Formats: sequence, structure tokens, C-alpha cells
Amino acid sequence: KYAREYFMPPVTSLKWTQKEYITEAPMWCSVDLRDGNQALVVPMNLEEKLQYFQLLVSIGFKEIEVGFPAASETEFAFLRTLIEQDLIPDDVTIQVLTQSRDHIIRKTFEALHGAKRAIVHLYNSTSRAQREQVFRKSRQEIIDIAVSGAELVQACAAQTPGNFQFQYSPESFTGTEMDFALDICNHVLDVWRPTPEHKVIINLPATVSMSMPHVYASQIEFMSEHLKHRENVTLSVHPHNDRGTGVADAELGVLAGAQRVEGTLFGNGERTGNVDIVTLALNLFAHGVNPRLNFANLPAIRAAYERLTNMEVGKRHPYAGELVFTAFSGSHQDAIAKGMKWREEDERRYWSVPYLLIDPKDVGRAYEGDIIRINSQSGKGGIGYILEQHFGIDLPAEMREGLGYRVKSVSDRLHKELLPREIYDIFIEEFVNLN
Ligand code: KIV
Ligand code: ZN
Repeated sequence: KYAREYFMPPVTSLKWTQKEYITEAPMWCSVDLRDGNQALVVPMNLEEKLQYFQLLVSIGFKEIEVGFPAASETEFAFLRTLIEQDLIPDDVTIQVLTQSRDHIIRKTFEALHGAKRAIVHLYNSTSRAQREQVFRKSRQEIIDIAVSGAELVQACAAQTPGNFQFQYSPESFTGTEMDFALDICNHVLDVWRPTPEHKVIINLPATVSMSMPHVYASQIEFMSEHLKHRENVTLSVHPHNDRGTGVADAELGVLAGAQRVEGTLFGNGERTGNVDIVTLALNLFAHGVNPRLNFANLPAIRAAYERLTNMEVGKRHPYAGELVFTAFSGSHQDAIAKGMKWREEDERRYWSVPYLLIDPKDVGRAYEGDIIRINSQSGKGGIGYILEQHFGIDLPAEMREGLGYRVKSVSDRLHKELLPREIYDIFIEEFVNLN
């Protein structure tokens, strides 16, 4: 029923595999307000979109896809509000999505009236499945749709005041034969003729991620090497997470030549979501690369995201989940407590505390309550750490063993986590109230 061959095979010599890590942050484009919003049970209303836009600006996004203005009244009104109330900072460029259809392109430019600048994002679907099943059109007819859309975008931009950059996405790129994907993008580039002053963005979506990440990356590499006017093209990736590999797709895509990544906060988006930009950015941060996005107060960002989208960030979500910096088990607690001490001795040391990829404080998490928590799996090191951190009690080594067993057995019997106060009470009972 399922054929591997259907998912396009790698097409290049995989030069990107020679690289070990990313040395510079790509350009980020948030698609929360479009791809993320269109996947919500109840899409955001105008006020919620405005608040979400402010959130994205405060994080430091410089490119924000604000919607599909021809798609609904709220989308149209949102864009009008941003423009009319002058809410777009000078260093932020909004992006709008449009299908390659005449009336939709015209309506999009109507919505853009008065914008100082914007990226106009044109797309049509190119995969074999979409061509055969949905459109029942030949390759040439699909190229014609893209080309006539590109021409109309160009004509509308020429008649509308403002500074417009163009972006084209062959939607369902990962299900598209590479020779055809290249051909259609080059046809669009021939219409737009990018220059150093007017670069064009070619965005290659893993609309449905169909292959392993190295295959996607080799497709990106192929396009990067063969696109016309490459020096004036910004190559962008737009991974989704159907195979659970959105982050790997984006990272390998950047190694393979992509200069820009479209994604969302916490990976909200169609089906399994878009790639999570929080994880991507903090992965760079953990490698000592400035992500150029500010997640210093991640709990507050997460709270705003949850409130505005009505979605939940899972407890084990990378960097942001409630439990991702927490150790319950004894050996982990012991290693963390020792690692923290080692670093306290000399702050110039690089962060390398065992079991903690980054310093939780860098994303606004507290050591108290977030790192070492006590249950029946915990050990004497962790229990000692809690007494020291919360109550300033430096327990002598001879007492740690006994208290450790006592605390663990209470937690086991009650079948629950013990809070610092409860541990303190057990300590008092065990060693102080000796009747
Ligand atoms: O996933 C996708 O293909 C898209 C396009 C519209 C870019 O969201
Ligand atoms: Zn998408």
C-alpha cells in the first residue's frame, strides 16, 4: 500500500554532510499568524492576532507572515488595522500569503494599500499527487498558473505604493519531482528577475514531510545549486512535522544551503504542526551561536502563546516544557548538584553541567523548584541539594544516607512527589525531634 520510491530519492552528492554545525542564525520568518492560526480549532480574533503580533515583535522576529488577507474578513481587517494604526515597526516586514489566482492576488493588494513594505508570498501546488488528483492538469498547465500569478503580482506591485518583495512557494515541494520543482521556480524567477536590490525568496515547503531529513536536505542542496539568479535569491525552508522531523529538516536544510526558515512558536501549525522556531533558535544558542531571537523569558512567552491559541505546550517540549530541566532520579540529581558546584567555583567555565543542555536561567527558569525535585526515585545528593538551596542546611555526609532512605520511603508510601517543606519536616522529625 505504501511505496518508498514515491518519496523522491536523494539527488545530489550530499555536500552538506561535510558540515558539522550551523555557524550563523538563518533569517527567521514567523508563520504563526497564518499557518499556525489556520490550524487552530478556533482561529484567533482580531484582538488576539494583534496581541500575538506584538509578542512576535517583542521576541525579535523581523519577518512575520500576518495572514492570508483574501481568505476571510478577520484576516483582511487584521492587515488593515496593522497598516492604518501604524503598528508595524520600521525594522519588521510583514508577509502576506496569496494563491496564484487573479481575484485573490488583486484582493491581497487591496488589503496591502498603504503598507510601507511587505513580502507578497505567492504559491501554487506542484506535487504529482496534487497535479493528478486535485487539479487534473499537466506540468505545463501548472507552470502557467505560477507564471501568470507571478506576472500579476508584479503588475499589482507596480501600481501599488510601497516596497514589495516577492516570494514563491511550490507548495507540496517534497512530493514534486525535482526537475519539475526546479523548472517551475526558474520560470517564476524569469518573470521576477531578482537583483541585489530586489532579491526574491524561493521557499521550499515540506508541506507534508515525506522523506527522512537527509533527503529533504539533498533536495534543498539540489535547488540551491541549480536555481537561476541564485545570488539574488534567498532560499527558504518551510518544514512541517508529519514525520516528527521538522527540526532536523530545518537544520539539515540550512546546512544544505537554505538562508531562511519559516516556522512557528512551539511548532503550532497544520496537522502535526510547522517546525518549532523556539527549539531551532535555542539549539543554536546551545552551540554558542546567537539566534537573534530573545527567549530569555520563555515561561512568559509560553503563557501568552497558550492563552492566545488555546493550545498547550507539552511538559517535555524541548526547552519550554514544565519538566525539561527537572531531574527526579538519584544519579542525575547527584551529577547535576556536583556540576552546578563545579561551575559555581569558576563562572568563566563553559556551561557543561551534566544532564542540562543549557543553563535553565538563560530561558527564565529558576533553579529552585525547576531542577531537582524529589520522589521515590530520588537520591541523597538531590535531597541534600534541596535542604541546602531552600533552607541553607549543609547536611554532613554521614546524615545524608539515612535521611535519603527515609525521604524516599515516605514518597514511595504516599505515592507522590515531596515538596521542599515536606522534606524539611522529615529532616526535623528524623534528626532534631529525637525524643
Ligand atoms: O506548507 C505549505 O506548503 C504552506 C505553503 C502555503 C507555503 O504553508
Ligand atoms: Zn505550511
